[in-house]
Amino acid sequence: MPNTIRLTGKENFFDEGQVIVTKTNPLGVITYANKTFLEVSEFREKDVLGKPHNMIRHPDMPHSMFRKMWNRLTSGKEMFAYVINRTRLGNHYWVFAHVTPSFDTDQRIVGFHSNRRVPERSVLTGAIMPLYQTLNELERQAPDPESGIKAAEDYLREMLQKKGVGYDQFIFSL
Ligand SMILES: Cc1cc2nc3c(=O)[nH]c(=O)nc-3n(C[C@H](O)[C@H](O)[C@H](O)COP(=O)(O)O)c2cc1C
Repeated sequence: MPNTIRLTGKENFFDEGQVIVTKTNPLGVITYANKTFLEVSEFREKDVLGKPHNMIRHPDMPHSMFRKMWNRLTSGKEMFAYVINRTRLGNHYWVFAHVTPSFDTDQRIVGFHSNRRVPERSVLTGAIMPLYQTLNELERQAPDPESGIKAAEDYLREMLQKKGVGYDQFIFSL
């Protein structure tokens, strides 16, 4: 799917009791997608298996959040994050994601797994949307992508320092 697909501005929703699940190989290529993922993202299984997970990337997601996610995952740690995704038709949906590495018996990472649930709307509007907007502005204003990510990372670090909490504590305080 081209990254230039038109965004409709229409939001898709799923139920509180549902979980959107995908698994990837160590490179982030999709190896499993459950029925709820396919329904919400408007894809057929054969459209997504073997594709990089950034196929559903939405431009409102800050690069720095994915940098944080991959840094944590590749060092064997889990990541909780609010994520906006793009669907096949250019719609979008918000999730609260828990992404984890999967290990073999020698503790080597053999892939990754993401479980996503319905996010609290007040958390999105009150904290996450304004935060991501700031991170995106910092990333877009910078002279190059790498210094943009650094500026956004610095902002997030200082914000958390001022609050006296780590990222995980912050996410679960919302
Ligand atoms: C298990 C797993 C699940 C992921 N789920 C998503 C997702 O739902 N949406 C998304 O945009 N990226 C997801 N990613 C991250 C993508 O691999 C990618 O880093 C991200 O879309 C940013 O792409 P970009 O570097 O091309 O900007 C996931 C990665 C893993 C390992």
